[in-house]
Order: sequence, then structure tokens, then C-alpha cells
Amino acid sequence: MCGIVGYLGQQPAQDILLEGLRRLEYRGYDSAGLATLTRDNAQHTTTITRAPGKLNQLQEALKSKPCPGSTGIGHTRWATHGKPNEQNAHPHHTDGITVVHNGIIENHQELKTVLQKIGRTFSSETDTEVFAHLIAEAKKNEPDLLLAVKAALEKVDGAYALVVLDESDPERLICAKNASPLVIGLGDGENFIASDIPAVLKYTRDFHFLEDGDLASLTADKVTIWDTKTHTEQQRPVKTVEWSPVMAEKDGHEHFMHKEIFEQPRAITDTLRGRIDFDVGEPVLEQVHLDKLQNIDRILLLGCGTSYHSGMVAKYLFEQLARVHVEVDLASEFRYRNPVVDEKTLIIAISQSGETADTLAALKEAAQHGSPCLAICNVMDSAIARFCDARAGVLYTRAGPEIGVASTKAFVTQLVCLHMLALVLANQRGQISAENLKAEMVDLARIPREMEEILKSENAVQEIAERYQHMDHMLYLGRGPFFPIALEGALKLKEISYVHAEGYAAGEMKHGPIALIDENMPVVVMATQGPGYDKVMSNLEEVKARGGKIISVGLEDDERLANVSTDMMTLPQAPFWILPILSVLPLQMLAYHIAKLRGTDIDQPRNLAKSVTVE
Ligand code: F6R
Repeated sequence: MCGIVGYLGQQPAQDILLEGLRRLEYRGYDSAGLATLTRDNAQHTTTITRAPGKLNQLQEALKSKPCPGSTGIGHTRWATHGKPNEQNAHPHHTDGITVVHNGIIENHQELKTVLQKIGRTFSSETDTEVFAHLIAEAKKNEPDLLLAVKAALEKVDGAYALVVLDESDPERLICAKNASPLVIGLGDGENFIASDIPAVLKYTRDFHFLEDGDLASLTADKVTIWDTKTHTEQQRPVKTVEWSPVMAEKDGHEHFMHKEIFEQPRAITDTLRGRIDFDVGEPVLEQVHLDKLQNIDRILLLGCGTSYHSGMVAKYLFEQLARVHVEVDLASEFRYRNPVVDEKTLIIAISQSGETADTLAALKEAAQHGSPCLAICNVMDSAIARFCDARAGVLYTRAGPEIGVASTKAFVTQLVCLHMLALVLANQRGQISAENLKAEMVDLARIPREMEEILKSENAVQEIAERYQHMDHMLYLGRGPFFPIALEGALKLKEISYVHAEGYAAGEMKHGPIALIDENMPVVVMATQGPGYDKVMSNLEEVKARGGKIISVGLEDDERLANVSTDMMTLPQAPFWILPILSVLPLQMLAYHIAKLRGTDIDQPRNLAKSVTVE
């Protein structure tokens, strides 16, 4: 959940590290720090500058204590062990060894006790500092840094992405990965390490994606990777990412979230590119192993947060189109049950980052029961993508880097991927005619244009936001596939504006939430025509009768809805199954503008981190 960046080459490391951290700040942001090496006669010394709070505070601290040199490491922290203060900020240093670490060392308390007994003094409350001491101790018997790091890793249980800097071995960085993401970016006469691709995308698009158990040594010219399980050197392929550096820029928008909302038509175009081929007659899903889908009798969709919501929408879609039994589960719940899944249950894990700890653990649990596992992921070669690639495959969403903590473009691209998958399954199971399949593909291809239309209504949505900005609570309602959209709308509002919001199935209103309705509890309702429309209209009359204010999301020419609504956000005419994808856009804009008016930190809301790599 924290961010790591490392550099060695000929350029001043401080600038590269700081810029990398700025691009990673979304991963975690309660403190940050840098460490670099400089040569002082024949000796090298380490300069460490750390600061609590956001990166600007580190930037300030660097003015009085700069980090010179062209080799260094940096970190942004999201506290798991110890308060977010300077003392606990990374890097951690002892005896010439400096480390940054993401993840959690589960046995750190035992290790710390042993290390304290042999006279080691700790200066922080973090689990990470244990690494620095373990390596320093190991170096007493094993002067080679790489082997000393390996010896230290053997003592540690838990998740780590680790980078080590050593004053006595100044020409290289050592890094290691287990269950936390880490990539090596390859430059010309310089190399980079990062927990996340956007950190160094400005400098390179060529990467080694480390695997769990990898230990690597980097000089400015060479990267060597070992598998610590087999004790062998590994030839990991160099992969070139499609993301471009500008994709990780705000590009004139005030916030990444705003940029990402407005990027959604482009993102969907990329999701569909090469996959909608009318000559083939069904979506072409290149990395999905279709044979693994043939004998299934059930689908289980797993995810967390927004990704769970896209799974919920897909349940309606798969059941309707492919006539297959579908369940959706929160990954964090599934993994702690004794789930009934088998080789006929297709598991679909949905994850933007591909690194969410609960989703990965749930997948592994399901795989043990013999279930084929398929991933819908945004980040190339992420842990979840890799796990599924060797099983039922991966469907990349191709949304481009999503930097805003609140997920937007990842969600809609997930929905489009799931829709394409539903069509392939429907075709495989003989549940859809060639004509209907073609019509569905045409519907998908129109989404970007329809989204452009919706995004033009931003000013109107902003005015609505102005009217409701001071509310303390909001209720979101929807039926059928719009129920998860209501959940998603409520999640967007609460996470970025800190307004309490709840999503409900509209039909459940009478079973409890109606008691909350009064003029201070606005109700945001999805009310597009189609199945359930009349029922939703009755719900709205009930809200109105109790003095509740109604903000509706509906079709542009729906006068009946307009008459019952206090405010309305409109959608263009579109097929029923496309409308859930479209209707989330006004909800994203509403949440964005309410948050902006309330002055919250939209891209980095309090307490949140972009990828949740701890449980
Ligand atoms: C909400 C949000 C989170 C994520 C969740 C899962 O806006 O971003 O709820 O959806 O943490 O993350 P991924 O999709 O990376 O597994």
C-alpha cells in the first residue's frame, strides 16, 4: 500500500526519486523519505531525509537537508505498524544498511526481541527496521550484500517488497519481492526499481516484473535476478508496457479523478480495441483460455470495493445472457469461509490493481478446490493476472494507469470486459443467436459516444452538487443491475467527500430505510425505463410523500421521472444492458463536485490507499 522507488545511474537521484514518489503518492501517504549515497574521499555515506505528512513536507525538508548523489531509494508510507511520524517513516538505517519496504513482516516482534537481546537498538516502531538489523547482522558472517540479504529474508515471514542500499557496496541496489509488487525499470546506463509502473514511466517502458521469491541485484548497467527458492539465476523477460507517460499526468485537470472520469470514453475504446470483430462473430478475448470455460456449471465472481460492485452488475448480465448460475462474493468474506466450489465453478477475480491481498488469497483458496480461475485486471503482470494467466486466463481492462484513489475508469472497463465475457459464454452455451450477438457487440461499440454525451452535462451536475453539498447523509437506490450502481455511487460519495451515503436495492426501501427519509436525506435514484421502472416510480412517490428530495438518473426524455424528481441527471437513449455502465458517470461527477465544494483531498482521501496489499 506504500510506494517504493529506487534509482542508480548518472543523474541526481533526489529529483528522480521525488518525482517517482509523487506518482506513487496515491498508494499511501502519511509520511515519506529518501536516502542517497555520496562519496566522501574513499568512503560512501548515506543521507536520509524523512518527513511526516504529504510529499510537500518531504520536499520542504529536502531544502534544508538535500539528498545528493546518483544512487538512492525512496518511500511513501501508509502506516501499518507505528504512528505516521518522522521516526517511523522509511528509509530505515543501521550500520551502513538502509532499507525501504512495503508489506508486513508477520514475525517482526519475535525477530526484534532476538535482535534486542544481542544488543541491537531500534529507533522506530516499524516492522521494517527489523530488516535493516537482520541484514547488518548477516553481513558479519557474509560480507556479500546479496547473500546477506538472502540470509535475512530466510528469517522473515510475511509480505515484502524490499530495496536495500549499502554504503560498503555503493555500486548496486538489492531488491526482493514476496507478495508485494515490485518492478525493475530498464534504462540506458541507469536502472530503476518501483512498486508501481507509473513511478518511472517517464524514463522507461521496459520492465522486468519480479515474481514472488525473486532477489535481484542492480547496477547502472546490469540486472541479475535469482529465484531464492531454487537458488538459480533467472532470465525474466523484458516486457514493454503500453501505458505512456502522459497517461500518468493530470493533463490540465485539477485532479486525477476528474481526468479519469473524462477519460472513460477513451478507456472503453481501448478496452474494445481488437476485441469486437464482426467477422469473427463474437468478442475476441485474446488471453482467455476458452476451453477452460466449457465445462463449468457455475460462476463465482470475487472482488473488493468497486471491483466487487462490477461483479454484482455482471451477475445480472451472465444470468440473463448466458443462463448460468452466478454468485458474487466479497473476496475478504469468501476466503475465510469453507466455500463450496469445485472444478466446475469458474472463478472470476476482478481487480484494478491485481494486487489486492484478499482477492489474491481468495483466488488461491478457490484454486485449491480445482476451480478454473480467470482474472479481470488493469495492471499488466500483476499478481492476480499472473496467477490466472496459467489457469483460465486474463482479460486486461486496458484503462491505463488509474491514479485517483477513487476508482472510475477501471470500473466501467471492468463492466465492458465482463459484458464481452458474458457474450462469449452465451455463445458457447448456445444461449444467443448470431444476430443478437452482433447487436450486443454494436451496443458495446457505441458506449464511448454515449459517454461523451453524458460528460457534456458536467455543468448541470455541478449545479446539483452545489445544492446538496451541505447534506450529511444521502441514500442511493437502484433495482436489478442498477442496485450495484447505487452501491457504487454511494461508495464514491463517501470515500472522497466523507458524506455518509448508503446504497440500497430500491425494493428494500420499505423494509427499513424509508424510516430515514425526510428533507435532510436526499435520495439518489437510478430510474431508467425497462424492467422495474414502474416499481422504482412507486418508490419515488413514497419518498416524495415523506418530504424526501429526489435526485434521479434517467433517460433524457422521461417527463414522468422529471416531474417526480427534485433534480435530474440525464442519460442518452441506450439499450438496457448498457445503461448501468452509463449511469455511473453522473454519480461519479456528483461525488466529485460535492467533494470539491467541501474542500476534501479528492485524489488522496484520508485513510485510503490505492491498492490494499495488506489484509
Ligand atoms: C473504491 C476503490 C476500492 C477498490 C478496492 C479493490 O473507489 O477504488 O474500493 O475498488 O480496493 O481494489 P482492486 O480493484 O485494485 O482490487
